[in-house]
Amino acid sequence: SPSSMAPSSSPLLASETDEKYANVKWEELGFALTPTDYMYVAKGRQGESFSQGKIVPYGDISISPCSPILNYGQGLFEGLKAYRTEDDRIMLFRPDQNALRMQNGAERLCMTPPSLEHFVEAVKQTVLANKKWVPPPGKGTMYIRPLLIGSGAILGVAPAPEYSFLIYVSPVGNYHKGSSGLNLKVDHKHHRAHPGGTGGVKSCTNYSPIVKSLVEAKSSGFSDVLFLDAATGSNIEEVSACNIFIVKGNIVSTPPTSGTILPGVTRKSISELARDIGYQVEERDVSVDELLEAEEVFCTGTAVVVKAVETVTFHDKKVNYRTGEAALSTKLHSMLTNIQMGVVEDKKGWMVEI
Ligand code: COI
Repeated sequence: SPSSMAPSSSPLLASETDEKYANVKWEELGFALTPTDYMYVAKGRQGESFSQGKIVPYGDISISPCSPILNYGQGLFEGLKAYRTEDDRIMLFRPDQNALRMQNGAERLCMTPPSLEHFVEAVKQTVLANKKWVPPPGKGTMYIRPLLIGSGAILGVAPAPEYSFLIYVSPVGNYHKGSSGLNLKVDHKHHRAHPGGTGGVKSCTNYSPIVKSLVEAKSSGFSDVLFLDAATGSNIEEVSACNIFIVKGNIVSTPPTSGTILPGVTRKSISELARDIGYQVEERDVSVDELLEAEEVFCTGTAVVVKAVETVTFHDKKVNYRTGEAALSTKLHSMLTNIQMGVVEDKKGWMVEI
């Protein structure tokens, strides 16, 4: 909310820069931008390795009007988080996975990506420079947004001659505010991805086309939209900013990452945790009919974490699902966040201390 925004563009007094925490109303954080002090910027030429970047004051960037990101959407973004533990360590969750995903996306969009080491090191530097904006334990997390964009001017449709790798951060709270569970509307008119497209990578172009459905659904009181596959219109794919799972008995199912589903880091981690506690996890096509007959449905994502779905509406049919203490999603949410917050030992090697 605007009231929680700190005046990052005004010069800070020396005494303020030594504060452990920035002046943020932590209790009021939602998923909105609170500008912080610094960001990371690096440039790379097409086909060459990136030069080391630098930490600069957070602010607007200058870019050619003829850049492919502005004209043709040649860009990728990532999302990961930093967590402050009770003993005041700052931890990242599986940053190597985001680095790898950016590389896969760069291959698909003919972009030159930073190396895996560069990506992780740059994330660490950006978080450290903005350490006082990492919320106190239990009061939120720091959302980290790396971008890889075609920034060099080129008029025709072709790879950019120059790329920019940027990272900015923001303290955040819950993505979906307030609700105990999501009320999803199945969109049977628009699709998010199609076979052979870019649904399997985190291309910027996957997001703006779904805003219309989202706005329409929200104006009818829904919390989010669930998209169906473009090829048949009968299988579930993804919610606007997260993956989806259904539960029936001992079986947990989620659509496979075969090109139209974003391979979520939380998706992968939650599948592993569900297997650890004895569930059979299946990655396979899941029809709308099965969704409507499931006992439980939940969503996963970096921003969303693990979120129960309370209802799904498909045409005129509305179905209710298990939520609350008895739900598997509640258990998986605490298993995951206990690891992320350092409440339980990380036996998986997922956490990286900065
Ligand atoms: C994330 O969870 O990091 C995402 O990328 C979702 C974003 C579109 C808000």
